[in-house]
Amino acid sequence: MGEYFATVARGLEELAAQELTELGAVDVAQGFCGVSFQGDRELLYRVNLWARLPFRVLVKLGEFPSNDDRELYEGIQQIDWGEYLTPELTMAVTVTGKNEQLNHSHFTAVQVKRAITKQQTEKFGQRSSVDIQDPNVRINAHIDKDLCIVSLDSSGSSLHRRGYRSAVGDAPLKESLAAALMKMSGWTPDLAFVDPLCGSGTLPLEAAMQALNIAPGIFRDGFGFENWLDFDPDLFDRLIKSAEAGEKKDLQATIIGSDRNFDVIEQARSNARSSGVESYIQFAQMDLADVEAPADRGILLCNPPYGERLGRDEDLGAFYKLLGDVLKNRFKGWTAFVLSGNKELAKSIGLKSAQRTTVYNGTLPCQLMKYEMY
Ligand SMILES: C[S@@+](CC[C@H](N)C(=O)[O-])C[C@H]1O[C@@H](n2cnc3c(N)ncnc32)[C@H](O)[C@@H]1O
Repeated sequence: MGEYFATVARGLEELAAQELTELGAVDVAQGFCGVSFQGDRELLYRVNLWARLPFRVLVKLGEFPSNDDRELYEGIQQIDWGEYLTPELTMAVTVTGKNEQLNHSHFTAVQVKRAITKQQTEKFGQRSSVDIQDPNVRINAHIDKDLCIVSLDSSGSSLHRRGYRSAVGDAPLKESLAAALMKMSGWTPDLAFVDPLCGSGTLPLEAAMQALNIAPGIFRDGFGFENWLDFDPDLFDRLIKSAEAGEKKDLQATIIGSDRNFDVIEQARSNARSSGVESYIQFAQMDLADVEAPADRGILLCNPPYGERLGRDEDLGAFYKLLGDVLKNRFKGWTAFVLSGNKELAKSIGLKSAQRTTVYNGTLPCQLMKYEMY
């Protein structure tokens, strides 16, 4: 059994814990910006391939007291790095957290690297080179009070990078946040879905991938664990093949994305092509003022612009009021969700929210407001 930690955006711990449990994780416990869990190697591969919410899955190698750089160095040297890292493999060390003595993450990372490469040189007469951009093996040292937890990063690049999005519009949502918002909305594939401000299409794309049971990691170039010495290609291949075999070919309900900006709609279409869902999503260049509901009921979810200027003659308050009017007049029977980073603007929607949930879009605290449209 391995001890794992999935890092997630602040506020998504509970949803991520639920997702990991559904994927077969055991001993699941929520932490701050992450969820710890246990499982075998197959679970590790499955979570990387299938989890829609986490950024990275870390595999714990060890934990030791680390009050200062000397203790850190000694603790790192207690780990037998030959099990994970041969001198031909490149590496990168990231450091998170700090304490009184180890309060400079760059210096802490240098100290970790020194301890590893010293051990390698003594054992092999050679050492791994450092590649910050695209290392074979990523090592994470997390300083938490007087402890250091050392892990390998099994994901490689962040899992929110699904691999389908080459093109991005203005202020695109991270795919992992989009997937979390879909989850919070309670949307299920039997319900119609509309995002009338879809930008590069992240929400409709995540909806389509969920509805078609497409593994979120299937388009990625690779995962960190594929470079590891213990990588089991047959096991991973089986998981990929079974994911491909389980993809659905039909949608139960309509998925629509529209935006008034032609260029971003073209980007959304291009992203949909890369993920093989182009024929399943209706993308349209359309102003919010012209949007109509495609069914009697469904889920509408959008993140309107906030703060940035819409245009010289336009006023964001009026835009939010228009959004409220469109919901009220054209989406009767629907449940609508609006993610907003600006409370004042949100009031201009002019509808009474049934629920508000705080969600972090990067570092920006936002509210996901729910409106029941009767
Ligand atoms: C914050 S972005 C949405 C980003 C999107 N969720 C994504 O992940 O790419 C807001 C979008 O609203 C669109 N927009 C602004 N005013 C609009 C209007 N009156 N009608 C339709 N779309 C509009 C912008 O073009 C922009 O793409």
